[in-house]
This record gives sequence, structure tokens and C-alpha cells, in this order.
Amino acid sequence: MDKMTVRDVPVSGKRVLVRVDFNVPIDANGVITDDSRIRATLPTIEYLIRQGAKIVLMSHLGRPKGKPSPEFSLAPVAQKLSEILGRKVKLAPDCIGPGVEKLVAGLKPGEVLLLENLRFHAEEEAGDPEFARALARLGDVLVNDAFGTAHRAHASVTGVTRHLPAVAGFLLEKEINTLGGLLKNPEHPFVAIFGGAKVSDKVKLLKNIMGRVDRLLIGGGMAATFLKARSYNVGDSSVEMESIDVAHELLEDAKNNGVRIILPLDAVIADRLDDGAETRVVDIKSIPAGEKIVDIGPKTVELFLGEMERARTVFWNGPMGIYEIPKFSRGTESIARALPRLEAKTIVGGGSTAEIIDALGLSGKLTFVSTGGGASLQFLGGEELPGVTALQDRK
Ligand code: 3PG
Repeated sequence: MDKMTVRDVPVSGKRVLVRVDFNVPIDANGVITDDSRIRATLPTIEYLIRQGAKIVLMSHLGRPKGKPSPEFSLAPVAQKLSEILGRKVKLAPDCIGPGVEKLVAGLKPGEVLLLENLRFHAEEEAGDPEFARALARLGDVLVNDAFGTAHRAHASVTGVTRHLPAVAGFLLEKEINTLGGLLKNPEHPFVAIFGGAKVSDKVKLLKNIMGRVDRLLIGGGMAATFLKARSYNVGDSSVEMESIDVAHELLEDAKNNGVRIILPLDAVIADRLDDGAETRVVDIKSIPAGEKIVDIGPKTVELFLGEMERARTVFWNGPMGIYEIPKFSRGTESIARALPRLEAKTIVGGGSTAEIIDALGLSGKLTFVSTGGGASLQFLGGEELPGVTALQDRK
């Protein structure tokens, strides 16, 4: 990475303001159901503790629309982080203002304070310069370790960098180096597996990765749009009619780049989308009217696994079926469970795919699981991440 990192600046005894992405799923009982994003920042936080920095963490949680609201409080995160670090992490009552400045002034080297949800102020998402200045008063240096939010030009992400020396944390560095490595110098054969509902969400990514991969395996809802573009009958499966032309273009690009796009051979179909639905497996050429594709079928799983086994690099983003409904989750689970057995480098894009990996207990068994949802798609799509651009260049 061509940006300065936390290694490059003196932090000992300094107030270090760290932008993290603690936007984690929390259930109705206030329990964090996936703490990977918190754990992923430990290398930076523990390094700062060892260096004797005074650590001020800031994050958003959810989309509270610019107003304080208890269900979006970072209190469960402060508690979880205290447990993980084995030391008290205090939660400030707000993220700016004299009361918070006083708490920061009272920090001793190695102590950690978490600010309350940045998005309790509408100025955060608006990138308000005064709000950014108020945040900057809390630190001597800014460390950005929030890869998951690097695609947002918000006050805490880009605004603060106008007032403080701003460098990358270890997570941000690892994300950029690992995902960047996929684009720059992947080991071949490079197999990318894409699923999820929409082609339109991933067009830039699919186009950008086209010249770099050897095989593109397509499952999930987006497969129906590609199948339709190849003139298959897909029954009542939801097809993005507005993306058919793009699917044609991508199929053409693939041909021109010597990339094989591999679509499902068979599918699990159902007449309705709930766990009580009757399902059956049919050949992809025989999807009847009135039925929907809800998962990839067993022949497709075998075909995809064969391709994955021959690969040196595997990247996966997006479920193969309607994963939330257990009956339709087998294809996704088979792909996920095969990953740790591969000899290839295994890299998973963030968001719902990372949550699936975590729920199956596979997180520590892969080469890398990105903490970025939208950010990883944007980065792999070749687009700039404002949060990274704003950091100091390595001289
Ligand atoms: C994410 O979960 O993708 C990030 O935390 C960004 O959240 P946002 O989409 O609400 O900006």
C-alpha cells in the first residue's frame, strides 16, 4: 500500500483517534451476533496499547438518521471489546463536545475510550466541516482502520484528515494489500464465484475482474439474469430485465478475454419462498412456469467444486441461493465448507458472505475474509475509496 500506516508515526503518549467500523449485527436482546469486525481491529488497538497511546475509538452503528436512539447505541460494542481486550473500554456519552473532550483529557497511556455512535449527528454523513473539526479536537493523530466505511466520504472518514496527520491502521492495510493483490498479481488459475440477488450490484466488479480471472462461476439470483440472457427459460425466477444487456456484454467480454463463465447446470426450484415450500431439483433447461430457482443444484455444486479444486486463487462473494431460508441454503453451505479444504488462497468478500462464513465457524480457516461489504465491491470494481485516498502518501 502506498499510504503511511500507524507504524510510521509516533503514537506513544499521544491521543490517537482511531476510525473503526464497529457496524456489527446486534439482535433484539442487544447481543452481537457476529463480532468479526471488532476482532479484526485488535492488531491496531493492541499495538497502540503496547505503544502507550491514549486511544479514542470512533464508529457508526446502523443508520439512526442523525438522531440519538438507544437501539443504535455502541454500548454492547464497548462491553464486547472490554471482554475481548481484557480491559475496561469506557463508552463516552456522545462523540463530540466539552464533556467528551474532558474524558479524553483524562485518558492515561494504554487506556481506551469508545465514542458514542457518530451517526447520532446528521453532520457525520453530511461530511460537515465543523463536525469534523470537533472530532479532530479529540486526537493528535488519526488512524483509519475502518475499511468497511472507506467508501463513504463522511466527516470522520475524510473530514478529520484535513486537521490531523492521517494514516492507515493494520486492518485497512491488510484489506488493501489482500484485495489489491487479487487485482494485481493473483496466482492462476484464478476462480471467482459470484452469487447474490443482483447483477446490477456487481457490474463494475465483474467488468474489472474480467481480465484477471480464468473462470467466473455464477450462482444465486443473478444466475437467472445470465441464463435469461442465454435464452433459457427461468420460470418465475426474478430476472433483472434492465441488466440483460449488461449480462450479454459480460458474456461477450468473457469470450474476448478467454474467461469461461460457468452457469448452473441444475437448480433447486420451489413454487414459493418459505421453508414449507415443496422443492425439487431440475435440469437448468427444464425450469417450469410458475416455479422459481432458489438454490444451485447438486450437479452444479460438483461442477463448481471441481473448478475450485483446480484453482490457486479463489474469491467468493454472494450466496448461491436464498440462504436465509434453511431449505434453500445447501448450495451456499457446500461452497463455503469446501473453501478451507482447498490448496488455493481463499478470499471472501465481506457483507452477507462474511456473515455466512462466520455463522458456519469457518472464519479462521480461510486466507482472508474482508470486513467490507460495499467497500470491498467498490474497491474490486476499480473505484476510488475516499477514506483511503485521504490518508498520507508514503514518501
Ligand atoms: C457497512 O456495513 O457496509 C459499513 O459499515 C457502511 O455502512 P453504511 O452502508 O450504512 O454506510
